[in-house]
Parts: sequence; structure tokens; C-alpha cells
Amino acid sequence: MCGIVAYIGPKEAYPIIIKGLQRLEYRGYDSAGVAILNGTFNLYKRKGKVSDLVDFINAKKTNGTSGIGHTRWATHGKPDDTNAHPHTSGDDNLVLVHNGIIENYAVLKRALENEGHVFKSETDTEVLVHLIQEIQTRENLPLEDAVRISLTKVIGAYAIVVMDKRDPEKLVGARKQSPLVIGIGEDEFFMASDATPIVEHTKQVVYLNDGEIAVVNRNGEMEIKTIESNKIQRPYVHQLELQIEQLEKGGYDYFMMKEIHEQPKTIGDAMRGRINADEGWIRLGGVDEYSAKMSKASRFIIAGCGTSWHAGLIGEYLLEDLARMPVEVEYASELRYRNPIINEDDVVVALSQSGETADTLAAIELAQKRNALVYGIVNVVGSSIARITDAGSYIHAGPEIGVASTKAFTGQVTLLTMMALSLAHKRGTISESYYHRLLVELENIPGKLAKVLEKAKQIEYIAREIKDANNALYLGRGYNFPVALEGALKLKEISYIHAEGYPAAEMKHGPIALIDENMPVIVICTNKSAYDKIASNVQEVKARKGMVIAIVAEGDEEISKMADYSIEIPDTEEPLTPLLSVVPLQLLSYYIAVMRGCNVDQPRNLAKSVTVE
Ligand code: AGP
Ligand code: GLU
Repeated sequence: MCGIVAYIGPKEAYPIIIKGLQRLEYRGYDSAGVAILNGTFNLYKRKGKVSDLVDFINAKKTNGTSGIGHTRWATHGKPDDTNAHPHTSGDDNLVLVHNGIIENYAVLKRALENEGHVFKSETDTEVLVHLIQEIQTRENLPLEDAVRISLTKVIGAYAIVVMDKRDPEKLVGARKQSPLVIGIGEDEFFMASDATPIVEHTKQVVYLNDGEIAVVNRNGEMEIKTIESNKIQRPYVHQLELQIEQLEKGGYDYFMMKEIHEQPKTIGDAMRGRINADEGWIRLGGVDEYSAKMSKASRFIIAGCGTSWHAGLIGEYLLEDLARMPVEVEYASELRYRNPIINEDDVVVALSQSGETADTLAAIELAQKRNALVYGIVNVVGSSIARITDAGSYIHAGPEIGVASTKAFTGQVTLLTMMALSLAHKRGTISESYYHRLLVELENIPGKLAKVLEKAKQIEYIAREIKDANNALYLGRGYNFPVALEGALKLKEISYIHAEGYPAAEMKHGPIALIDENMPVIVICTNKSAYDKIASNVQEVKARKGMVIAIVAEGDEEISKMADYSIEIPDTEEPLTPLLSVVPLQLLSYYIAVMRGCNVDQPRNLAKSVTVE
């Protein structure tokens, strides 16, 4: 969690770093800091957003052509000016920014204190920069060797960049389980947590691998070694395809709203070249390559966190319903710490927007140790999960910057739908005619989703009616149960209203006790199967004076009549419903959050990618 940016080259570093931090702010935004080297360090740190840091620096000295910056999501030590990064060594010769957690910091700190080191902050990070100083001075080593040896003593996760004011011509970066990308420009280098701060300067990047250390210098030289000091002969240089416009808000007030509206396009992009309903095929690289293994798998295990886990639940319904595959869906954080039964006949599908979620990465490593085939469904190109999985597909949603995931969710569900359909066809578990109907309908989804977006005004009106609620309940059945969970998560994340998602029929086993006239109940009623059952659930809420907001299929009469508000969405095949029914819930939480004065893109306490456990 947190964003790192570093620069060395002929240009002024400060504006490059600040702009980069603003792009990375989705990763963490409780404090920010920069250190610009110009003989000595101009070091500024501030609690709050990058804009607070900029206001604080104002006209202070920032000139210099190398520097590092950080936007923090605190793990150790409260967000304040002192705990903000960069951190300095005791002799003030080194500065360091860090993303991750040094798990054995307490032991290292005690040992360093015994050597006379005095610490200013409560962070784990400061311990690392003191350790580097200690090893560097004790053994009289160049910076990169001191960093390398220090990292052999560290347990935990990190992406770091370090500068030494006595050695101003270089930057040293390293990574383990937290991302670090190196941008290669003309006699200049960038280092950052992802490619977004780099793309406007150069399209050539190297993704550092776990356990690698990079030294870049002002002469345009780069050297990458492993932590064991083996030189990487020819680091692979990727060509970025990211466009700068993808990183702008494009006229919307918030990225989240832009991303909600992008969904007809992003779902189309997820399907582009992969499906043809006229000719009746689906081509999904990894699935085709491993189709024999996947078709015969004893079981699918889908792992992810948060919204990705919700997409995984829909994947379970799809793979069971269409491909008749046994599926288990796991929180990655639980899977990794149990002693799960995973074997080589299993297929593990890892879902992640960022491709950097620490728990999901750890679950993948565990599955790989047990020889399961691991398939990644990921958004961020070149991310850690994309690189360590055995096979996979990108969802091609483009950068998702709003912390609340929207277009990545529908992208993941689109990919899972294609995967289930492809396997169903190969395994002969659905009829040809149903397969074709679903393909045609899948191609129709972007157009139908555009129609759902036309309901924005009506949804904004409903949002006004319920914006002051303290609690909300989301109910759905079958394919719409995970959608209920996702709707509740969206509301919690960005508006801070407590919300719960439940299978509609479970309501009577407990949550019904909560219902009174102050409780908005959002019921997703687009199912054809069990329609009568869900209609009864709506009755049950109304009988207890709850306010019902129903998401219904076009032309619905029965439930619309009972509900206080109903939002009609185009009818579709039941397995595809989540792709449409989630969108009114995204819009509802967006409007409520805006009306409550919340920062939609950067909700409190959250960060976009959770690269710590
Ligand atoms: C979604 O709105 C969240 N902010 C969060 O739950 C997220 O889905 C989760 O952290 C997983 O992230 P990932 O998809 O990048 O792995
Ligand atoms: N563990 C470090 C801290 O709390 C870094 C956290 C981060 O990744 O932002 O300061």
C-alpha cells in the first residue's frame, strides 16, 4: 500500500515527483513527503493529501535533479508529519521511501538502539534506513551493497528507493512482494509503484522482480542484481500501452463516476477478439491452452479479496450452473492461513484488479506449491499476479483509479462468464442452442448496460431519499446474492453507512429483526427463477414497514407495485444478470456518498491496492 515515485536525470525532480504522487494517491493518502537532493536533502513531509504537502512546501526550496517521494497508507505508526516518508538515516546521509511492512522491525530496532541509533518515528521503515546506514558505515560499502546486505536481514514485504547524498549520481531500488517499476528515459530514470507516474515521460519500463535490486544513474546506466548478488544479464524491457487520457477524469467529478460510465466500453474490451456469437466461438488464451486440464479438473478454487471475491462468488454460480464444475470460493486471506486441501488436479483462479494484493499473491504461491494450475484474472498489466500465475487473462478495463471497484468487477464477471461458457461448451454441459443464446446475449450486454446508465437521474432521486439512513440491507437470490454483497460493500466503502448483503431468504433467519421504517432495503429482483420467492421476501419487508428499493427487469409488475421505488433494467439471460444489476447499486452508493460530502475516490482508511497482509 502507498505510492513511491523517484527520479534521476537532467530535469527538475520536484514537479515530476509531485505529479507522480498525485497519480499514485489512490494507493494511500494519509500523508505524503518528498526529498530532493541538491548537495543536501530538501526534505518535506506532511500529514494529509499530496495537495496538503504542496501547500506546505509552497515557495520553499525544491530545486534538484534527483529525488524521491511517497504517499502513505500507514501500517506502523499513526499518520502524522514525523511518521510520513521519506525517512532519514541517523547521520542524515540517506533517505528512503518504503511500501510494505518490515515484520521483524522490532528486533532490528532493539539491536540498532543497542548500537546507539536513535529513532524519530514509530514506523518500521525508519528501522530499515538505519540498518542500511549501520551496515554501510561498519563495512564501508557502496550504497547498493549496503542495501542488498540489509535486505537479507529483513523479513517482510517491501518496495524501496534509497538515495545517498554522498553518492548523488544514483538511485537504488529494490522489491519483495510490493511492486516497483523502472521507467527508462533519455539519460533519465524513474522508479514508481506502478506505471502511471512514468507513462507521460517514457513508455519503456522494466518491472523489477521479487528479490531484485536496481541501481540507476545519471549516465543512463542501469544494473539489476538479485539479493544474492547475481547480475540479471538482460532485464526485459516492456513497452507500455497505457494512454495518458486514461489517467484523467474526462469531465466527471470523480474517477468512480467515470469508471461506472466506462463499463459498456470496458465490458466490450474484455470480450474483444475473444467471442463471436455469429460463428459460435469463445477464445480465451489461457483457457484454450489448458482446456484439457481445466475440463478435467477435480475442482475450481476461486480466490480473491473484497470486490474480487464477490466476482468470484458469481464465478461459482456460473461454473457450476453452466460447466457443471465443482467450485469453492475463498477469501485469499483465509485460504493462505488454513491448511487447505489443494492438489494437482485443482484449478485455482486468482481474481485481482490490481494484481498486487498481498493475500491473493500468498494464496497463489501456496496453490503453486501444491502443484495446482493457477489462472489469473487481472486488470493491471504487468502486475505481480499477472506475472506469477501459470496462465491467465487480462480484463482490459484500463486503469481503475477510484478506490471503490466498479468496472474491474464487471470485467472480472465478464471473463468468468466467458470461462464458464467456454468450458461448458467443451464439456458439453449445455445445449448448443443455449450456448448460442448466451453468446448473443453476452454481446448485447454493453448496449443494455448503456440503458441502465440512463437511469442515473432516477437513482440520484432515490439516493436523496435514503442518504441519511444509518443502515441498509441488500438482498438478492442466486446470481444476485453476490451482487447484494457487492452493493452493500460499495455503500459502506464510500458513504460510511453500515450495510449488509444477505441472500434474500436468509433475512428471516435474523436480519429481519432490524427492519423498521428507518431501514432501506435494496432488493435485486431480476431473477426469473425463484421470482415468486423473492416477491414474498419483498412482502416480508413491507409487512414490517421497511422501505423497499427494488431492482427489477423491464416490464415487471408484481414487485414494482409493492416496492417504494423500483429501478427497471433491461431483461437478460439469468446468468448474465449481475453484469447489469450491479450498476444501479454502484450509482446509488456514488450519489449517496456525494450527497453526504464524502470523498468518493479516496474513502477514509482505504487504499486501492492492499499490498500488506
Ligand atoms: C473494492 O471496492 C475494494 N476497494 C476492495 O475490496 C478490493 O476489491 C480488494 O482490496 C481486492 O483488490 P484487488 O482486486 O486489487 O486484488
Ligand atoms: N509500513 C510503512 C509505514 O507504515 C509503509 C506503509 C506503506 O506502504 O505506505 O509507514
